[in-house]
Amino acid sequence: MATAAPFPAGRPRRLRTTPALRALVAQTRPAAADLVLPLFVREGLAEPAPIASMPGVVQHSRDSLRKAAVEAVQAGVGGLMLFGVPSTRDATGTGGTDDDGILNVAIRDVVAEVGDATVVMSDLCLDEFTDHGHCGVLDADGRVDNDATLVRYAEMGLAQAAAGAHVLGLSGMMDGQVGVVRAALDADRLTDTAILAYTAKYASAFFGPFREAVESTLQGDRRTYQQDPANADEALRELALDLAEGADIVMVKPALPYLDVLRRVADEAARHGVPVAAYQVSGEYSMAEAAFERGWLDRERTIVETLTSVRRAGAGVVLTYWAVEAARLLEHGTRA
Ligand code: PBG
Repeated sequence: MATAAPFPAGRPRRLRTTPALRALVAQTRPAAADLVLPLFVREGLAEPAPIASMPGVVQHSRDSLRKAAVEAVQAGVGGLMLFGVPSTRDATGTGGTDDDGILNVAIRDVVAEVGDATVVMSDLCLDEFTDHGHCGVLDADGRVDNDATLVRYAEMGLAQAAAGAHVLGLSGMMDGQVGVVRAALDADRLTDTAILAYTAKYASAFFGPFREAVESTLQGDRRTYQQDPANADEALRELALDLAEGADIVMVKPALPYLDVLRRVADEAARHGVPVAAYQVSGEYSMAEAAFERGWLDRERTIVETLTSVRRAGAGVVLTYWAVEAARLLEHGTRA
């Protein structure tokens, strides 16, 4: 004899009964406009070149970069983050500050093409431009020299802002980088150029495929400047400094392995009214792509679920190599 059990506290399953009910009560809705597409442009390329460890992602030529930017804008993607791959490198990363350097040229190209329709962001870091592959300049003992690097970052920020970038992505993890770049911009009356601070950036194995994408020459690692994956509290210290130095948007990177850090940073940033971004990095992308290739994970569901998780953990903005595909999925329910 079946008797209905009393459920004085409610039946949560009732609201999961139909797709319409689930849609009505869904708390997190990732949208195309929240997504930022990272793009690589390589000096001297005539045709786009595939990146083996990132299926579907390429190093662009100047020409194909412009087309990719237009495609992303048409798909409704909210912004673009540009990375340059120069054909020559040196100890101080001259190519990053040279107005004719590939990244600064590419910023101009993209701003001319879609600058009124989207947010153009540029990576502000020296690692793609130095022959040793570190994010800063080295001292006589071969260590990354924090304060000498800040001087170069200020120069790089001015070059990128002059090229028309709307947002500078400070990814080098030098102490004081936000304050120094902000002061340089303000002194040149570039007060509208915003700073996206890579606030909590971890020394992560998940950046592996990116190193192929930018043909990094790095020997060793970045553990003396990027954060230790063992630590969460220091992300809040980094956040306090970035906010005090004038960061406009703060970011946690990588995303999925650091959702706990993202939640803590997002809660604190909300108290200051500052938007939070998260970067779903190359290794997060490649790991899933490898599983898609083998039929081990469902492509569309996995992409949408990871983006939903990152948004749910507190990121308003998500940098992802799936931005165009995800934008179409989120807006039209199809990849077409
Ligand atoms: C530094 C930079 C890196 C990434 C973005 N900016 C590499 C690093 O710190 O080693 C990684 C992005 C990714 O893995 O997708 N210029």
